[in-house]
Amino acid sequence: MKGKSWSRRFFLGASAAFAGVRLTGRAAPAPLAKTTRDDRLALLGGTPVRSQPFTSWPILEDGDRELWKEVLETRRWNRRGGSYVERFESEWRDRLGAGYVVATSSGTSALYTSLQALGVGPGDEVIVPPYTFVATINVVLLCHALPIFADSDRETSQMDASRIEAAVTDRTRAVIPVHLGGNVCDMDRILKISRSRGLKVVEDACQSHLAEWRGRKVGTLGDLGCFSFQASKNLNCGEGGAISGDDAELLATCTSFQDAGRGYQANPDGRLERAAAPLAHVRSGDNRRMTEFQGALLVAQLRRLEAQTRLRRENAAYLTRLFHEIPGIEPTREYSGCTGNAYHLYMFRYRPEAFAGIARDRFLEALRAEGIRCSPGYRPLNRQPFLEQALQSRAFRRIYPEKLLKEWPERNRCPENDRLCEEAVWLGQSVFLGSRSDMEEIAAAVRKVRRLAPTLAG
Ligand SMILES: Cc1ncc(COP(=O)(O)O)c(C=O)c1O
Repeated sequence: MKGKSWSRRFFLGASAAFAGVRLTGRAAPAPLAKTTRDDRLALLGGTPVRSQPFTSWPILEDGDRELWKEVLETRRWNRRGGSYVERFESEWRDRLGAGYVVATSSGTSALYTSLQALGVGPGDEVIVPPYTFVATINVVLLCHALPIFADSDRETSQMDASRIEAAVTDRTRAVIPVHLGGNVCDMDRILKISRSRGLKVVEDACQSHLAEWRGRKVGTLGDLGCFSFQASKNLNCGEGGAISGDDAELLATCTSFQDAGRGYQANPDGRLERAAAPLAHVRSGDNRRMTEFQGALLVAQLRRLEAQTRLRRENAAYLTRLFHEIPGIEPTREYSGCTGNAYHLYMFRYRPEAFAGIARDRFLEALRAEGIRCSPGYRPLNRQPFLEQALQSRAFRRIYPEKLLKEWPERNRCPENDRLCEEAVWLGQSVFLGSRSDMEEIAAAVRKVRRLAPTLAG
């Protein structure tokens, strides 16, 4: 497994492998008695704890097929002719309790459009976490702005809000807190620092559909919130995204940017409408529009999101209780303001000393052999070679003083995140759409690996 890039694609690949087995419902638990009698790890030829697939993803029901077919037959595939993208925007706005929502072609598009609408550009700095999907950083680079990393809080796997203040300079324009894995950043602290320093806040809520901070949905706390509906996400239409916010003018600007710079106005009822302006194009823009096919799938999938979120929470809470009894397994903590984790990922930290010293990656191999889908998560993003290449590009060298670019690597060291990347283990969201016995099998597999870890040591 060494050298492979582990990401959302891993979880997709794994669930797609089981897609032929079942499309909906829960996997039947494997008999536990058989495994507890086995004194060999599956990695060494023993019987795996689990031989059944977990719930596969995505889930597809008849209603989804009907809506999708309807779009096909109406031949209105672009959002201008159809009604589904608009309907989804309105339903998602209601679910979030946001003033406005505009759909986009992807989460990356949502983030890029947001930064463009806020005027982030060459010469600006944007504070980002190092523990995130690469898109959070790519959009900053696309604006020719400089990403500045605030180290991680290893206990929560989120951006450490106490590091933001020290990262602010007179170039800083915005902060992008990422609610990673469906857990929530310390938004009280982030908003306080940002407001006091005049910084814009773009929440990257791409992994946190319906997560909550003090009873409010994430994506409605900062200036703008961005969502992804890419295939691995808890709400999924293959590829898709959305921006949420309350500022009418800002949302009209976002809508305009993603629609080739056409003029838009935001109505008090939450609708974003083409403005009856003398000029069709009021700014330079891009095409980041969502199609009607994406919109229809989202309307269909959204019907199940609340129930799925409740189930993920129940199962995750149960697994946490089981994990608390296993030495060396430390489930990710939530800040006290987190009133709802969306569990896109279930994250925990692994302590080798409680497992006869076997390395995290060997533990993962053993756990996978026992039939448990798991991943080591992200690598340290702030140290990826592509960043150095981007910062040494002609454009960046023209924009930023040589000294600033030279000092960038030292300024962006994130030792806590480096450790987090070595300790983390992830389970994907669809695992939590199963039953309590699925959770028991995960815990049983971890216990078995721990008990027999000495057979792997040395
Ligand atoms: C934290 C985070 N930000 C941004 C994105 C980008 O979303 P998309 O893949 O829809 O462009 C993702 C998606 O994987 C993500 O997980």
